[in-house]
This record gives sequence, structure tokens and C-alpha cells, in this order.
Amino acid sequence: MTGVQTGLVMLWWLLQLWTVPCRGQELVDMMDKGVFQPQNALSDMEFVSVSSYRGPGNSDMRSNKELPILLWWSANLFPHFPGDTERVDCAHSSCLVTRNRKVQLQRRTTAIIFYGTDFRAYEAPLPRLPHQTWALFHEESPMNNYVLSHSPGIRLFNYTATFRRESDYPLTLQWLPSLDYLLKPPSVSLQEKNRWRRAGLAPVLYMQSHCDVPSDRDRYVQELMKYIQVDSYGKCLNNKPLPEHLEDTSTATGEDREFMSFVARYKFHLAMENGLCPDYMTEKLWRPMHQGCVPIYRGSSSVADWLPNARSAILIDDFASPQELAEFIKTLDQDDEEYLRYLEYKTPSKITNLRLLDGLQNREWGVNDMSKPNYLNGFECFVCDRENERLAAVKAHCRDPAKYPAPQLKMANSSHMGCPLPSPGYGPIEEIDLNDGWLQMWPQDYWQSLDQAEGLVSLISHNESDPALLWQHIHSMAMRRSGGQ
Ligand SMILES: *[C@@H]1O[C@H](CO)[C@@H](O)[C@H](O)[C@H]1NC(C)=O
Ligand SMILES: *[C@@H]1O[C@H](CO)[C@@H](O)[C@H](O)[C@H]1NC(C)=O
Ligand SMILES: *[C@@H]1O[C@H](CO)[C@@H](O)[C@H](O)[C@H]1NC(C)=O
Repeated sequence: MTGVQTGLVMLWWLLQLWTVPCRGQELVDMMDKGVFQPQNALSDMEFVSVSSYRGPGNSDMRSNKELPILLWWSANLFPHFPGDTERVDCAHSSCLVTRNRKVQLQRRTTAIIFYGTDFRAYEAPLPRLPHQTWALFHEESPMNNYVLSHSPGIRLFNYTATFRRESDYPLTLQWLPSLDYLLKPPSVSLQEKNRWRRAGLAPVLYMQSHCDVPSDRDRYVQELMKYIQVDSYGKCLNNKPLPEHLEDTSTATGEDREFMSFVARYKFHLAMENGLCPDYMTEKLWRPMHQGCVPIYRGSSSVADWLPNARSAILIDDFASPQELAEFIKTLDQDDEEYLRYLEYKTPSKITNLRLLDGLQNREWGVNDMSKPNYLNGFECFVCDRENERLAAVKAHCRDPAKYPAPQLKMANSSHMGCPLPSPGYGPIEEIDLNDGWLQMWPQDYWQSLDQAEGLVSLISHNESDPALLWQHIHSMAMRRSGGQ
């Protein structure tokens, strides 16, 4: 071909670009062929060359320039070091991942990954481009961001990794390192625990220093304390000083040995999550079990689905009142045989919950396990493989729509998060003093989050490019609502 002919072919291509329905895809195709050079942003990025593991199913031989880009929107959470950009070679395909926001509006940037705790509607990447998917990683407490618990908020995302089993890449057992962790023999024998009881230790331990939380746990514990002795060492409802040589590590992930042997002397541990949500279970549940103490648990309403067997924790919500719970604990405190039944799961054959066993066995990520990927890199690769699949399907469809149907759209829904409106830890909400800190904080936070989720949906549907317009949109929605009544 002469230069003129090549020029004409290109012109023809460019004209096609604006008329064919698969326009976006043609652009990507042309980039693949090197016809269309994307603007600069990438060229000033350094491509860190990493010796990455290429899975046996990955025969992706494309160069870095041809790979789809995944943009991590939360700069604080980029699971690579050093540098801002890397190539990842996943089980089936490869991608470029970056935290350089300059690529936000690029064609090649096919997915944006968000960290739930940092996700703010007024900082969202706008305008939202139709060819880009959004992926949400949110393993932390529901209290960190109620925007995601509202249907309009979560439906903005196409892929999720959350603690819910319904999520695309579930992190439900993220706080349980292994089966061996549960099987570890009790740190303190029952005989010894009983000796400590006779020496004046309470049957129940409470150790909490984060007091103003949506689950409102202190209100429940305060009531419980009227009916049974509870030793409380943390800042919340403190009634006992912690021995000087010990540090309050109740919120830390580390497991200081001296601290652990101190708390393991208690028969029962109050184990209450800071936020309530199905499948949200943390070390608060698993750590007492590791030590051989019986958790008195409130958090995930579906916790029973994950426990080693039907008798391994006391569930607060099984009792009509704190008083009834206290009676039950007292009975158990005086019945060694019955108490030990709660520790039977320390024998492997007594772990009968197949969902738990399968969950631990089938997860591809590890907890403190260097031989497995961590779940951040795992999710990143999950998104990479899904995006490459999707792009291939779109491409096939654009070439031959009769033969290849357009790929199904995919979006998250409330089953991926959907944590309920915070309610009082004890008693009806009407009886709570109007100046109560919890009352002033959490129900409001929840409903304001709904406004923000709806505001963001409005920004996106108006094709706004400035997320700071969020407040205006929320305001005008509120005006419309009150005007319409
Ligand atoms: C991703 O989610 C958005 C918002 O829900 C939706 O409009 C879009 O069609 C989805 N994209 C894909 C590829 O499923
Ligand atoms: C929510 O999403 C899940 C898949 O993630 C799907 O199985 C379920 O049907 C969806 N529910 C609704 C109400 O759309
Ligand atoms: C949406 O906004 C972008 C950037 O502001 C603009 O390029 C695009 O044409 C707009 N699309 C529509 C459908 O209004």
C-alpha cells in the first residue's frame, strides 16, 4: 500500500468509528493494532518490570502497551511496591495496574478499583465512562461506610469483594487464619479457670476501647452487668485496671502472648462486633475460640452458618433479654460437663460444619500464609481475568453480533453488603435520651449515607464531571421531594 492508500484506509476507519454501534470497542481494537496512540499519560509512567508468576492458564503474550488498565482509586491502597504501575500476570490473563489517576479517562482503563472505607461520593471519578466497570474491595466494618449498605450505593459497582458470602470474591473467613487456629488446645484448663473463679475472677470478660459504635454494644453490656459479674478492662464500661505489664491489645491484630494468657483465664468472653451485618465476623469471634474460651457473640446475624458445630458459641440474639442470658451463663459456669461441650470442636471430628470446612479449604487467598496470595492481589486478578473475558466477549460480539450475543451486564446488589440501619444495643429506641451520643450519631450517619448514594447516582446520570457538585444534587433532590408533597 502506498502512503496515500494507508491514509485513506485510516480515514475510512475513523469514519466508521462514529457510526458503528461498537464504537468504543473499535477504538480499543485500533489501539491494539498500534494505529491509535493513546495520549501521553502512560508514556510518562514507568513500567516496573516484575518477575511475576504466570499461571498455567495464562497464555497472554500481549505487551504492556496492549493490556487493559485497572486503576486503583484509593491511593493509600495499592498492593504493589515500589512504583505506581505494574503488570500483573493472573491465572488466565494479564493487566496493567496503576494508581496513577492520570489514566482515569483513558479508553484502555477498563476498570476502577475502590477501597470501601475510603470511598467518598464527593471524590468519585466522574464522569463515569460507559466502558469502565467499578470494583469494590471492602473487608472492613460496615460502620466505616454506610453508603455501600444502601442499594443505590452498592449497585454502582460491577464486582465486589466484601465479607458477605454473596459477594463476587467473598472474604467471609478473613479473620480465621486456618482450621488449626481453632483446633489449638485451650490455653488454660477448666480446672485452672475454676480456680481463678474461686479467687474472685468474674465468669465473663469484656475488653473494649472503641465505645461509640453503631452496634451500641455497651448499652447491652451495661444491662447484662446488672445480672452477672463482668470484668471490664478496656476504656468502655471499665471496672478494673489492666495489670500494668499488659497493654490493651483488644483492637490490635497482634496476639501478644502475655495478654492472651491473661484473658484466657476467663471462661466467657463478650465478643461483640462494632457494626452488625450478615457475615461480618472478626477476630472478636475467632480469637476467644482459639484460646479455648466461649464467645458470647453478637455481630453477624448468620454467624451460626460458620461456627464449627451447633454448640461452640453463645449467641446473644438467642436470648430474650440480658437477664435471661445472664441466667444461662451462670448455669453453664456451674456445670463443667456442659461447659466443656462448648469446646468439643477442639477435636477435629467434632468440626461438623461443611460450609466452614469448605470455605477454609477453597479460598485461594491466605491469612498470614506466604504460600498463598493475599486477598488484595487475589481480587485484583479476579477483576483482571473478568475484564479480559468481558473485553473479548464485547469484541467478538462487535465482529459478529449474530453469532455472539452481547455479554451480560453485571452489577452488585444489596446482598453484597446491605448492612441494616443501626439500632440500639438494648431496649427500644423511643426510650433513649435525645442527647445520647449513639442516637445523635449513627442513625443519622446511616440516612445521610443514603443521600450521598442517591446524590452520586444523580451526578452520574447527569454526566457530571465534578464530584463536588454532590451537595447541590442532594439539595435539589431534597427540594424536589418536599415540593412534591
Ligand atoms: C456496571 O455497573 C453500572 C452501574 O450499575 C452499569 O450501568 C453498567 O452497565 C455495568 N457494566 C457492566 C459491563 O456490566
Ligand atoms: C443479587 O446479586 C446476586 C449475584 O451476585 C444474584 O444472585 C441475585 O439474584 C441478585 N439479587 C437481586 C434481587 O437482583
Ligand atoms: C459526558 O461528559 C463527557 C465529559 O464531560 C463528554 O465528553 C461526553 O460527551 C458527555 N456525554 C454525554 C452523553 O452527554
